[in-house]
Amino acid sequence: MLSWEDFDQDETLNKQAENTAGQNSTEIHTKEKPQNQDPLEEIDLGTKKDHSRQIQQAITDLESLDISTGVEELEGSAVRVKVDDKRMINCRADLNQLVPFKYDWAWQKYLDGCANHWMPQEVNMNADISLWKDPNGLTEDERLIVKRNLGFFSTADSLVANNLVLAIYRLVTNPECRQYILRQAFEEAIHTHAYQYCIESLAMDEGEIFNMYHEIPSVAKKAAWGLKYTRSISDPNFKTGTAETDQELLRNLIAFYCCLEGIFFYCGFTQILSMGRRNKMTGTSEQFQYILRDESMHLNFGIDMINQIKLENPELWTDEMKEQATQMILQATQLEIEYARDTMPRGVLGMNAAMMEEYLEFIANRRLVQIGLPEQFDGVSNPFPWMSEIMDLRKEKNFFETRVIEYQTGGALSWD
Ligand SMILES: [Fe+2]
Ligand SMILES: [Fe+2]
Repeated sequence: MLSWEDFDQDETLNKQAENTAGQNSTEIHTKEKPQNQDPLEEIDLGTKKDHSRQIQQAITDLESLDISTGVEELEGSAVRVKVDDKRMINCRADLNQLVPFKYDWAWQKYLDGCANHWMPQEVNMNADISLWKDPNGLTEDERLIVKRNLGFFSTADSLVANNLVLAIYRLVTNPECRQYILRQAFEEAIHTHAYQYCIESLAMDEGEIFNMYHEIPSVAKKAAWGLKYTRSISDPNFKTGTAETDQELLRNLIAFYCCLEGIFFYCGFTQILSMGRRNKMTGTSEQFQYILRDESMHLNFGIDMINQIKLENPELWTDEMKEQATQMILQATQLEIEYARDTMPRGVLGMNAAMMEEYLEFIANRRLVQIGLPEQFDGVSNPFPWMSEIMDLRKEKNFFETRVIEYQTGGALSWD
């Protein structure tokens, strides 16, 4: 533990060092060695002298530092930021000043995300391990669902995290949104950790699971579709500022938030959570339930960002852009329906591919409406109302209050 005595001692050493500074080090070494001096002490003296020279060098360099040059490099930092200066994209105001807040929804989501913090190791996996090892514990169809979903999600969350850090973060020019993006990036790391933790706990073939995103067509297609939208904007030379490049960013946000996190995750989440509701693979299901709750906030943050960008830049939301956005959501829905058919060749866990298809069409209608586009699927309803129960935004506040209490007492989540 540090004490004030340590500081006093340091000061004495510094003074000693200052007194010897400027002397030529060869002088010391050529001086006659005092009798009975410990040879280690001599080495110490040499070290102190070098140290002092380095400190002196640091002080001298700092004295010549031109403060104005450094500040000029920070865009728009010469003046205090006013709320009206802030914009989602192409903002010229200083991005290092978090306040005053303009987008309270972004800051609130950051606070809610932090209040919802969890770690994968805190979930008990014992029941899953014995069920997975028991040759009669699960049917082959149930095992397929667990493996495919761990295969898809273990790499999908890394795709999302990389897109956030390497593409979106730089181009979203608002500090409170960036604050949430940093939180989201950490949550994505926790999700990847959770999938790795499940794979390791169940002693699965890691090579097989982590390579599904290029070896299993229904998984590979979803990953390839997402990557298509990150390629151009993750180029370090990519800049927004023209209608064309701003629309490219908008397409990326729609692809990653509305389609990847908002559609591609939903078949898998429903399947694993359905397993948990039937008291099977409850540890894995609990991990997925925590992840789904994070993801529903990511999705809503993304939708808020997209709508705010549209509001501030109405010229970007052309008929052509609306058509492209609709097509993107329809393509993502189609890929997720293919994934549902691949992972559920027969009815399993009280659901089948046809029910999942209707659910995904219901989800697609929601995503379209959330970004101001008309529904595309008539007469579809939600065959899994319990999924809405888990994600219903009107209950989000209550959910977090409940969640925090459960978390603190270490209780298991209820599957009712
Ligand atoms: Fe995630
Ligand atoms: Fe996410």
